[in-house]
Amino acid sequence: MNINAKTVPLGVVGWPVTHSISPELHNRLIEKLGLNYFYSAYPVQPGAMPRALDGMRALGIRGLNVTIPHKEEAFRLCDRLDAYAAGIGAVNTVVNENGCLRGYNTDAPGFIACLRREGVSAAGKKAALLGAGGAARAVAVGLLQNGAAELRIINRTRERAERLASELAARFPGRVRAAANADGADLLVNATSVGMKNSETPFADFDRLGEGCVVCDIVYCPRETVFLRGAREAGLKTVGGIGMLVYQAALAFELFTGMAPGEEAVEELLRRVELKRSVALTGFMGCGKSAVGRELAQMCAAEFIDCDDYIVKKAGKPIPEIFAEVGEAGFRDMESRCIAELAGRSGAVIALGGGAVLRRENIDLLRENCRVVRIKTDVGKVLRNTAGDRSRPLLRGKTPEQVAELMALREPYYQNCDLTVDASKTDPRETACIILDKIAEMS
Ligand code: ATR
Repeated sequence: MNINAKTVPLGVVGWPVTHSISPELHNRLIEKLGLNYFYSAYPVQPGAMPRALDGMRALGIRGLNVTIPHKEEAFRLCDRLDAYAAGIGAVNTVVNENGCLRGYNTDAPGFIACLRREGVSAAGKKAALLGAGGAARAVAVGLLQNGAAELRIINRTRERAERLASELAARFPGRVRAAANADGADLLVNATSVGMKNSETPFADFDRLGEGCVVCDIVYCPRETVFLRGAREAGLKTVGGIGMLVYQAALAFELFTGMAPGEEAVEELLRRVELKRSVALTGFMGCGKSAVGRELAQMCAAEFIDCDDYIVKKAGKPIPEIFAEVGEAGFRDMESRCIAELAGRSGAVIALGGGAVLRRENIDLLRENCRVVRIKTDVGKVLRNTAGDRSRPLLRGKTPEQVAELMALREPYYQNCDLTVDASKTDPRETACIILDKIAEMS
């Protein structure tokens, strides 16, 4: 990327915003299309949006995406609105046309584009929607605007569903109502936050849906929520939330730059972040599996699981205590059981403990579902990375020579992997970039 005096600034505003995947998506498209733009993230505190948008005008920032909690305020502050933004009451994309701020909402058409990619059309559907918040409103407008025959809004707080339904009924008469169930629906969308980083589901009556019902979740982390797994196990077609995330970005990109990224670029982007197969990171203690894993997960808006943390949580005690109580063999048994559970996840980044490779069956099992990526590094970096870390009983009190010896002993075990990446000269983020590029080449 060559930033110069002509580089056009773009970005995302939100609070917090450091975990946004938008810079990854947009900068990738900028690079792919060879444009002179640069996309970054701006943390904007609640209440600071008027000043932020004035700053956008003053600095000539060409475009901003808007995320939580500013979408409604951006709607109020823009000079012009597109039909989706006006209908939804929220703006996720602001384009600066010589000081005139145009507000768009690409969440709704992004959702529709994602359905289209899966061969699903909203037209004529008997749709049901779970949730009545901002996300639900965008999905509802998307579905109604694109010809859904009926839309039932189902929400924990019934009056919120009724309020949203009556508001939408004014624009889409006879097609939308609040409801208590989704019986017979042929399209069901979860737009509640349930399922995000927990094991709950907002719905379980899959056997009462219409035959061939398509079930969508706008939650993308984890990639397969408990809700989607239930639908899949009931034999229904499922669509996860990551596609909507990528398509809303692609549509915003076109508004910012005037260039449609094209199907091939969007597909590539999607393949890159989809993580159809989870990534499991192996390597010697202190090679940077957790740090690289966290970067990788952020770059894909994916779930990050540290296997050691997972074991500690399950056991309810720290690793040195587990070693003291049941010895290394007992710990390895627990580790194998945890790996067997984690191997079934899709769209996750899993950092394994340094010794997980000692049992070949652990890695063989992982390789059935995941890409096993080995991070290779040198003794110096291992010692630097683990200095002062007291949770690693096997490294305690070892000299560099003894560590090198242990690494050499483990070396043959690490060779059972799908990909090896040398991280001795790269920081975690650079290593994560290399892994993503190589995985993309493999698929
Ligand atoms: P957003 O703007 O992101 O959609 P929101 O306005 O807070 O966020 O809406 C969250 C939605 O998830 C709501 O429909 C909420 O239901 P309530 O209106 O009853 O609060 C729903 N939701 C959140 N947690 C839930 C839970 N544990 N069970 C059921 N619905 C839940």
